[in-house]
Amino acid sequence: QKVAVLYGGKSTEREVSLSTGRECIVALREAGFEVIPIDVTDDLPAVIHALTHPRPDAVFNALHGRFGEDGCIQGVLDWLGIPYTHSGLRASALAMDKAAAKAVFRAAGLPVVEHRLVTRDELEAADPLPVPYVVKPVNEGSSVGVHIVLKGSNQRAEIARNWRYGDHAMVESYVPGRELTVGVMGDRPLAVTDIIADAGTFYDYDSKYAAGGSRHVIPAQMPQEDYARALDIALRAHQALGCRGASRADLRYDESAEGARRLVLLEVNTQPGLTPTSLLPEQAAHCGIPFPALCAWMVKEARH
Ligand code: DAL
Ligand code: MG
Repeated sequence: QKVAVLYGGKSTEREVSLSTGRECIVALREAGFEVIPIDVTDDLPAVIHALTHPRPDAVFNALHGRFGEDGCIQGVLDWLGIPYTHSGLRASALAMDKAAAKAVFRAAGLPVVEHRLVTRDELEAADPLPVPYVVKPVNEGSSVGVHIVLKGSNQRAEIARNWRYGDHAMVESYVPGRELTVGVMGDRPLAVTDIIADAGTFYDYDSKYAAGGSRHVIPAQMPQEDYARALDIALRAHQALGCRGASRADLRYDESAEGARRLVLLEVNTQPGLTPTSLLPEQAAHCGIPFPALCAWMVKEARH
């Protein structure tokens, strides 16, 4: 079977996607596929030419971020009639828009935190929510552009002035506690990972991709009922958005309020990272699924 791997792309996560793509190319060859690597640049006609001369049996989408994760490339592949891995156009577009995704999650009864969408001017003028809060782009990944504004910090105006992630910023109440993540393969949530970032930081871009930048504990140590609930939230979020193949839900786990432990769903990633430091491959391995088998399963689930 001929599989074209789309990787790179023109988003802020290009480097991450190059890394994801390199891993997948090696793994798919190991799994017996004939692989055609396609480094995606801003030359769309060249990409379409590569996808049609020769035409692959399936596309492995190893892109992250804008144009690769938000429905754009999915629309092109639907148009060409080539089956592709991961979510389709609609689920991709929904998941990439953090505000739209939260509306869907809320309607499905899933726990999300309050947010406001503000313009750069509004953010520069005043605190949109009581501190502490998080300022994030509505549609970026890998923590690009994410800032935590703590009590007594005077960063807000500077964040506003330097904002270059669209007309609006999403401002969310900060949820204290632990960062959890749950991978989903089809109708199966894999495991809960507890992510422990380096002291003094959060799970930002550097701690995500530097070797040793964070510690991952699988399975997360937490009461059994909360563990089961985290798995359930991830599966229901995947289903609420209409995701396909693999996805990964990011959550916060707040144990600070005595007797009122709280799980909050932050977002679903429809193109979870598959780099050497990424979380989904680790969870699959924990469940006895080696990386080449994970990639082969994704190809088997490819649709258009
Ligand atoms: N956005 C990165 C690739 C992730 O979710 O893993
Ligand atoms: Mg993300």
